[in-house]
Amino acid sequence: MKEIKVGFLGLGNIGGGVYRTLDNNRADIIHKEGVSFKVKRALVRNLDKARTADVPEGVLTTRFEDILEDDEITLVAEFMGAPHPACEYLTQLLRAGKTVVTANKEVIAHCWPELEEAAKEGGAGLYYEAAVAGGIPVIRAITDSMQANNVRQIMGIVNGTTNYILTRMAEDGMEYSDALAEAQQKGLAEPDPTNDVEGKDAACKLSILASLGFHARVPLGKIYCEGITKVAQEDIELGKEMGYALKLLAIGKKDKDNRIEVRVHPTFISEKHPLSSVQDSYNAIFLTGDAVGNLMFYGRGAGDLPTASAIISDMVYAAKTDKHRYNTFKNVEDVEGIVEFNDDWQSKYFLHLSVEDAPGVLAVIATIFAGSGISIESVVQKGHSQGAVPLILITHMVGERMMKNAIRSIEALPQVKKVNILIRVEEDYD
Ligand SMILES: NC(=O)c1ccc[n+]([C@@H]2O[C@H](COP(=O)([O-])OP(=O)(O)OC[C@H]3O[C@@H](n4cnc5c(N)ncnc54)[C@H](OP(=O)(O)O)[C@@H]3O)[C@@H](O)[C@H]2O)c1
Repeated sequence: MKEIKVGFLGLGNIGGGVYRTLDNNRADIIHKEGVSFKVKRALVRNLDKARTADVPEGVLTTRFEDILEDDEITLVAEFMGAPHPACEYLTQLLRAGKTVVTANKEVIAHCWPELEEAAKEGGAGLYYEAAVAGGIPVIRAITDSMQANNVRQIMGIVNGTTNYILTRMAEDGMEYSDALAEAQQKGLAEPDPTNDVEGKDAACKLSILASLGFHARVPLGKIYCEGITKVAQEDIELGKEMGYALKLLAIGKKDKDNRIEVRVHPTFISEKHPLSSVQDSYNAIFLTGDAVGNLMFYGRGAGDLPTASAIISDMVYAAKTDKHRYNTFKNVEDVEGIVEFNDDWQSKYFLHLSVEDAPGVLAVIATIFAGSGISIESVVQKGHSQGAVPLILITHMVGERMMKNAIRSIEALPQVKKVNILIRVEEDYD
């Protein structure tokens, strides 16, 4: 049996879960894998804080050097959060030859090149299964089980907070602000929910998934990002009547010419699509490979024990590997490289307008669309009133820029009171 001395960076929600799982399942892990992990030091900010793990005296420290300079510690697991100082700490550890396992998507999304360079320099491993979709083993599925494939498409519900909010809006008719307040009360949303509701958390995860799936480093800055804060319950209801479910999707696509599009935004998908049944705070990733076809991975995208499951899997994997592997990115020397990023993707669109209830309004809007070469798939006009009435149009496939130009013209029409929202609609899967 091999005993590995481990350092922890952080011992909060996730760190506590990892510590307890290592304790509770120690005998089983030794039996199955022949490896045992002993947590020698754990870095925290506050030594006096109550912990969910029963850590022996002398393990907690506030000095990073106690881990960096301890030659017995060969593996470090990081769950501090935030890109900094995690990036600086992990870089030093990797350069010193200590293998790193992290749950921190921000540090990978922001500092991947520096971390990988440091890992190669130190001959150390860098593992991050828990950084995307918590307990769902999707990273290793892409890197170790899809080698035969050209990954063509990634579609993920990778943020549990927003999926919970959208589920409550769809199922219980709640408005966004009430659903957010409920998520916060249940501990499913942070007091400051910006990173989740604005799509930034999902963008970090998409940067990692798309880089691995498409073998091209996809920097955060290349990802179009739009959150769910402008979605009204009425939009979800109108979409539902037309057979759609609304999800915050992280979407990556690579076409035959290697052009990559990466975007995070609220998306209508058919109620028949498997992702539409992913409810509450669950996550799912729907991958399409040219050989395997469609795959879907579903499970808990957060929480101390599901995340501990992924972290400990990385720890076991790292402990049993003789030679750490580094990912190959076709554009690694130059971020633009041979890969072209496409920001004028094709999509169908759901456009919700408030218009005057007068004859000829639809004809004027249809003329603008026709002039832009945009064809309309369906139209729904609701009710009669003296004031404004909702008009919903679904287009056929059209380029993003063309659609936005047409909307600028529509917005200027005197008959149009308001452009309520524009939501992209994903085509059905094959
Ligand atoms: N929560 C989830 O469900 C989940 C799921 C997947 C991935 N993750 C990722 O896991 C990481 C940790 O999440 P968490 O929920 O466990 O956070 P958390 O409960 O806030 O724990 C953070 C821990 O790191 C320590 N820490 C933070 N900054 C530090 C610094 N500068 N120096 C020393 N110690 C520092 C804190 O020390 P004190 O305890 O003394 O304050 C605490 O123990 C994040 O990257 C998160 O994105 C979380």
